[in-house]
Amino acid sequence: MNTKELTDKYIMNTYGRFDLTLVKGDGCILYDENGKKYIDFASGIAVNNLGYNNHAINSAVINQIKKLIHVSNYFYTEPQALLAEKLCKNSFADKVFFCNSGAESVEGAIKLARIYAKKFSKRGYKVIAMENSFHGRTFGALSATGQDKYHKGFEPLLEGFTHVKFNDFSAVEKLINGAGGKAGNGKDYCAVIVEPVQGEGGVNIADKGYIKSLRDLTAENDVALIFDEVQVGLGRTGKLFAYMNYGVEPDVMTLAKPLAGGLPIGAVLAKDKIAKAFEPGNHASTFGGGPLITAAANAFIDEITKEDFLDEVLKTGNYIKSKLDELKLDFSEFIKDVRNIGLIGAIEFYEIKSKDIAVKLIEEGFLTTAVQDKILRLTPPLIIKKGDVDLLIESIVNILNGHYNK
Ligand SMILES: Cc1ncc(COP(=O)(O)O)c(C=O)c1O
Repeated sequence: MNTKELTDKYIMNTYGRFDLTLVKGDGCILYDENGKKYIDFASGIAVNNLGYNNHAINSAVINQIKKLIHVSNYFYTEPQALLAEKLCKNSFADKVFFCNSGAESVEGAIKLARIYAKKFSKRGYKVIAMENSFHGRTFGALSATGQDKYHKGFEPLLEGFTHVKFNDFSAVEKLINGAGGKAGNGKDYCAVIVEPVQGEGGVNIADKGYIKSLRDLTAENDVALIFDEVQVGLGRTGKLFAYMNYGVEPDVMTLAKPLAGGLPIGAVLAKDKIAKAFEPGNHASTFGGGPLITAAANAFIDEITKEDFLDEVLKTGNYIKSKLDELKLDFSEFIKDVRNIGLIGAIEFYEIKSKDIAVKLIEEGFLTTAVQDKILRLTPPLIIKKGDVDLLIESIVNILNGHYNK
């Protein structure tokens, strides 16, 4: 049996896979089993921010693997400590908790907010989350996720999550302050969780005023403001963290996807004020922050904090923006909207299924992701070059002209 047949026979059927088996990568190029090349505009869903076969990541992993792969968190290890220092020194945070994935980082953030409320702010356990959000597949993260399609069949979900419209400050304000608020059930809420840019929701970018107002309201009420930056943190928006686009700081932030250069990791970052609520025994992860993974993550952070790295991301992001705007003008009959911030972008179609475009782009040698029924998402490695962007846009133009413009 070939790889596809083995997979289909032995692996649970949870993914709608493309008919493509990938075997290696270098820079922004992936190769299939027949040696065909693909320019990557997916990055393993916003993970491979430095592309493939990156020298810094490879060397860090190879060096560390010879020393120590795993010991328990009953002991100290240098790569973990150094990574925590780097994350804190480069962000709003004072403390970090390490885990293994985005969903786990969301679980950790929610547990932290709840225990902080129990011990210090004396607020309730409920969490305000956004419609159309995505926070992961474990029960806490799934309950926070504001898209019914992910919930179906798994009910009952965890109680205590209220979903409100994204980018609508008054909806949050009403819950915390409004009718039944201060005098009533507003005290029930301990946290607001929001993605500054909803990635899985279709690249919906939060307004500046909205994020600022959320910050003010949560600070006034001692409610934890959690930014889920699993998808858009760590350089994706052209800033080291997405919150840096907004001129405010969260109390808690979740990170995962690109942090360890393609190896599994998650992190919960928090200010001391909230982080102090966790005590030994409150939360843990066997593999969280292991030396191999954190050695890779240290290399990743060193690379993306090098002078000019993020300036280049911004420049390429602005270039993509100009190209997407042109595309929308030229194909206004098909394209409803284009959006991007840094190197996360989306093309939203009126009628065309994004999956169909993604399949045609594979034939043309490009990998993208179909994030919602009619939204094609672009999350290239942060090292993508303008020339690659031109090739992708040219291909999309050809597909739209050839298949739809008749
Ligand atoms: C914003 C956000 N949070 C959480 C997750 C879940 O991450 P993971 O798949 O690593 O559990 C994702 C994954 O797409 C995400 O985009």
